[in-house]
Amino acid sequence: MDIVTRSDGRRGVEVHGFDPVAATVDDLARLRQHLYHDKIVVLRAQTLAPEQFIALGREFGTPAAYYEPMYHHPEHELIFVSSNRQSEIGQVGVPKTGAFWHSDYQFMPDPFAVTLFYPQRLPSESRGTYFIDMAVAYERLSPRLRDAIEGTYCRHSARRYVKIRPSDVYRPLEDVIAEVERKTPAQRQPTVLTHPVTGERILYVAEAFTYEIEDASGNPLPKSLIDELLSESGQLDPTFEHPNIFLQGYEPGDLVMWDNRTLIHRALHNPTGEPAESFRVTVHDEHPLSAEVYA
Ligand SMILES: [Fe+2]
Repeated sequence: MDIVTRSDGRRGVEVHGFDPVAATVDDLARLRQHLYHDKIVVLRAQTLAPEQFIALGREFGTPAAYYEPMYHHPEHELIFVSSNRQSEIGQVGVPKTGAFWHSDYQFMPDPFAVTLFYPQRLPSESRGTYFIDMAVAYERLSPRLRDAIEGTYCRHSARRYVKIRPSDVYRPLEDVIAEVERKTPAQRQPTVLTHPVTGERILYVAEAFTYEIEDASGNPLPKSLIDELLSESGQLDPTFEHPNIFLQGYEPGDLVMWDNRTLIHRALHNPTGEPAESFRVTVHDEHPLSAEVYA
């Protein structure tokens, strides 16, 4: 197994010759280390069956099934499927997922620590995921903004991007909205997390889910503060040319793992509607979201 640190402005490490059957305890420990410290680990040339993909996820934490079953792989509920493919059993997974800045499960009480993403069918071009390292974004914030958010908390809700399910057809919209609020009530987290492994400070604000900011006593702060954080971190740039944004491309066989505490991401969907499908396994590790939460 060869681990190569990427250069030319590309982030993370690339791993050649990884075989999940032959991998030693030491190999897996090295990958975990790189995942937390380099944020992105790309395993090249993988040919894993769904069971092997889930087993690989278990090396990084405890896989969790997505709360909405319509995203599940038909035989493996721990695999989340993003797909525009129709099969003999109908739509598999959900098309066009994640085309907004977020981290996975940021709106839940216990967000995922690590995401493992494994494209199964790639379009011929426009394939990739945009990322922003929110520890870097925090470091680059203007001192005024950094001061303004010290000791504050943000609220996150899924409500803006919850997808209507086939079973919601003919239901009153108000009932659907009430169900969203009941199943996924808004969550309050520190605006700045401390990574429990690396100790880095992370700006924990994402365009898709963060809707309110308040001071340590719970008094609301102006919404414009969130807009400034989104703007300075690069999340409002429609050109994706902001210096904080980088694109992770995919080659067939790539399996990409990332630190979901530190990185936010946004899907790049091919506009042509060419067949595209990807599998995802998400895991909780043994650490709290932020070192401060239980301090
Ligand atoms: Fe995502």
